[in-house]
Amino acid sequence: MFIDQTSRRNFINRLGWGVFLSTIGGIMVASIRLLAPNVLYELPKEFKVGYPKDYPEGVHFIPARRIFVLRENNRFRAVSAVCTHLGCTMRWSEQDLAWKCPCHGSVFNEKGGVIKGPATRPLPWYDISVSLDGQLLVDLNKDVSPDHSVVVNV
Ligand code: FES
Repeated sequence: MFIDQTSRRNFINRLGWGVFLSTIGGIMVASIRLLAPNVLYELPKEFKVGYPKDYPEGVHFIPARRIFVLRENNRFRAVSAVCTHLGCTMRWSEQDLAWKCPCHGSVFNEKGGVIKGPATRPLPWYDISVSLDGQLLVDLNKDVSPDHSVVVNV
């Protein structure tokens, strides 16, 4: 069978260029990727959760930060909404005055203490204060007692 030398040469030539350009393209993509730092971005541990006047009496879930902000009269507190068993998001039951975990059934009392397992550790409470602009400021770096609160005249 007759094989055209020119078409074979063209094919090999194009294949070579294809491999060459693919390699250059891969190197360029890898080089550009190196410009972006390989860093895990974490949300700040200290953050504002809005103005006290925006919170009516009761327990308020802040989904973006998985905490609850509680208001009793002019007293504000902050507690974690993360179950201490395996990290599911807790739900507040006004009827039972308890936090309940939908995953494995742990129940925590009003002060975050374990009523029913499998969780064994209480819910952590966080420092809450008022920032210079008047918003409530929660600091996840500072664990506090369940009685810790900030009083704001609203
Ligand atoms: S994650 Fe809450 S009980 Fe398991």
